[in-house]
This record gives sequence, structure tokens and C-alpha cells, in this order.
Amino acid sequence: MSKKILKSAYQLLEDSIIYFEGKPIGTVAATGFKGLAAANYEECFIRDFVPSAMVFLADGRFDIVRNFLETVVTLRTRERVVAGHEIQPGVMPASFRVETQIDGKDTIIADFGERAIGRVAPVDSMMWWIILLYVYTNVTGDKELAKRKEFQAAMTQILHLCLKDSFEVSPALLVPDACSMIDRRLGIYGHPLEIQALFFGILNLAPQLLDDSDPTVKAVKETAYTRTQTLRNYVRLFYWLDLQRLNEIHRYRTEEFGANSVNVLNIYPESIPDWLPDWLPLDSGYLVGNVGASRMDFRYFGLGNLLAIIFNLATDTQAHAIMKLHEIRWPDLVGSMPMKICYPAMEGLEWQVRTGSDPKNVPWSYQNAGNWPALLWYFVAASLKSGRGDLAERAYQTAVDKLHHDNWPEYYDGRSGRLIGRRSNFKQVWSATSLIMARKLLDKPDLLSKLPG
Ligand code: GLC
Repeated sequence: MSKKILKSAYQLLEDSIIYFEGKPIGTVAATGFKGLAAANYEECFIRDFVPSAMVFLADGRFDIVRNFLETVVTLRTRERVVAGHEIQPGVMPASFRVETQIDGKDTIIADFGERAIGRVAPVDSMMWWIILLYVYTNVTGDKELAKRKEFQAAMTQILHLCLKDSFEVSPALLVPDACSMIDRRLGIYGHPLEIQALFFGILNLAPQLLDDSDPTVKAVKETAYTRTQTLRNYVRLFYWLDLQRLNEIHRYRTEEFGANSVNVLNIYPESIPDWLPDWLPLDSGYLVGNVGASRMDFRYFGLGNLLAIIFNLATDTQAHAIMKLHEIRWPDLVGSMPMKICYPAMEGLEWQVRTGSDPKNVPWSYQNAGNWPALLWYFVAASLKSGRGDLAERAYQTAVDKLHHDNWPEYYDGRSGRLIGRRSNFKQVWSATSLIMARKLLDKPDLLSKLPG
């Protein structure tokens, strides 16, 4: 049975490939073109291409991944200028498409946020690009690609941009709402965990790919190294939440001024949400969604926690506790379809204010606590890495038949993800590639060694 399903997933991947001048350069987000939720699903999204690339690399189809990396690096120089400020060099597009002109010539049109719904520029694209370049180098042994001038320049610019001085005191990266996988307003402006995990990833990886004969590159590598240490310590301390920490926060003193304060971010115990104390099991924990001045976003976010495990941002003890949380709170976090993008949903006034009354992000739907099959392979990788192959297999078995039967939906609705998302696409490519990659990792766990971490 599973063989037939994987064959159908592979067929979807094959149908999703886009070509530029005859060369395969990427995969569209969804192929069910007629009923697509938005026109840009016909484009190749950088983040959606990641699981496609993993499958291609595992299968020895290196050319398409190399072409993709080359294409995206050229697009970088084409970013649009907004009157009064330039979109920063180094920022890579959220997505791109190939258009064939009347004279038969292909052109690539990229979206740096100036066409995207809500006009949001992605921060994660440039980070995923570096991570993919690292995995490509690691799998193929081809060190030449990363050494090319334009690749070195792109990585240096990205590091410069992320390490630039700002008004910040915190070592975490300050970003706007909607700049990553969650690309609509959801109250995640500030220091969202997913971006911190990706940031930590590139701070580790880019220096390994950068040649330091140039003194400015050497200097940026050193800054990156120092920032890796401070960011790691900061996330492990300030984002971590378990019952012991919750007790500390519950009894925190506030308004402490000066060097000896304990509650340095001035978190008010009154901000602990009602659902949390009874929900958080003993011997488990997670990294919270966002941290800032008098702000702890106590929501759980799936991708950030899984990437923190995969990239070694979380300690081993924390990684085990996070997996334990999934085991104990399986119906909430995994449910009928692995797995929740965040938990719990925002409702009522909070939903109105923080999403702008977004009807696509109503409670327990889409990005507001919907279930996303695209997260499956990250869950499998994180579980295997923490020695929880049992959870990985269980998640895979939960997804496999249903995903195929339902025609590869993009997301599911409801508290436990039993309903196909109201505005979900079908034939969503990363729902299929995530399943293929999950199976590959389960069958050959040593593939994990090719990933960063
Ligand atoms: C949605 C998702 C985003 C994804 C895109 C294409 O906008 O939120 O993460 O990249 O669809 O699938």
C-alpha cells in the first residue's frame, strides 16, 4: 500500500518541476492549478522547495538543486527599490516563476514581497538558501559551487545584514510579522522562534562555507561565531519553558531595575495564559514562540521547536523534553494529521486584534493552529535525532493513507486536524515531498548526518 502512495507522491513531485530554458530549476507550490487558493501557488517558493530538494539530493538528482541555488543567487541582484528605502541586498525572494515571452524567450519573475498578499518580505528565504547550499555541498561533495564569487558574496551580505547593529539589546534577530512560513499576520513580530532557529543555523553554517582569505570576510565570520554563542545561551534560557520555569515565572517579582534583577525582561506573571498551567505535563517542556520586553508569547510553534532540535539549538535534555511533550499531548499537537503549526489557536478579541480579523486564519484553521503535513519530515528528523523513532513512525503512519486519500491537502482544520482545510489547496507539493522524505529518514536514519546539526 505504502509503495503505491509513495509512487503517487513522486508523480506529484515530477509534475511540479518548472523549467528555465529547458533546465529544471525548481518546483511549484501546488499543481492543482484550477482551484488554487491564490495565484502565487503556481510559483516556486524557496521554503517549499526545501523538502523537494531533500528528496532530489537523496535520490542523486543533484542538477535541479544546483540549478535552483544558482537561479536564486542571480535573482538576488534584481530586488526592487521601494521609494525611500532599498530592499536590503541579501534578501532573497519568497517565490519566483518562469514566464515565456511571445518571442519564446524565458524570463524569471521573482517576488520579494512587492506582489505578495499583504506585501510581506520573507526573512527565512535567504536562510533556507544557505542551509540548502550546505546540505547540497555535504551530500554531493561539490565544494566548488559555494566557492563561486557570487555565492561567497551572497553569504557575506546575508551575514552582514543579519549581524548589523540595530536598536536591539537582545542577541535574537528582530523581524516583522509574517516573514516566514507563517506569512500572514499572527502576532509573531519581534523575535519569533522559527527565525531564531534558522538564524542560529546560518550563523553556524555560512562560516563553514566561506573562504576567509579576505579580511572583511574573516571579521564577519568571527562576529558570527560570537553571536552563535550568545544566541544559543539566550534561547536556551529565555525561551525555555517547563513546569519548574513556569513556577518561577508565576512567582516572579517585577519592576526590578539594575544589574542584579532576576526577571530581566520584566515578564508579568499575570500574562501566563489560563490554558497553560494544567496543560504543561511534568518532565516535558518546549521553547516558547517569542520573547521580548514584558512579553512571552506562550504559544507552542511546531517548526521552531523542531528546527531547534535538528540544529542543536536546544540542549539534549530540552530536545527529549520537547519530544516527551509531543508524546503526552499527542491529540493536541499531532492529532489526526501531523502536525500543528502552533498551539493553541487565538480566539475572540485577541484574534481580531492580532490577525486583523483574517478570515483565513480563524481559530483552529490554517496558520492559526491548523495541522500542516509539510511539517511531518521535520518532526520525523527531530524525533529520530532525539532517539524517538517510535514517535516518528507513529506520525508517519497517521499521515500516510489519509494524505493520499485526501489528494495531498495543504492543511487541515479543527482542534485535532480532522477536517480538510476550508481553503486548502489539493496537490500541495510539500505535503507529498514531506511524506517521501519522512519515509526515507525512517528507512535510512543515517541520512540525518547530511543535515546541519
Ligand atoms: C502559504 C504558507 C507558506 C508557503 C506558501 C506556499 O502562504 O503559509 O509558508 O510557503 O503557502 O505553499
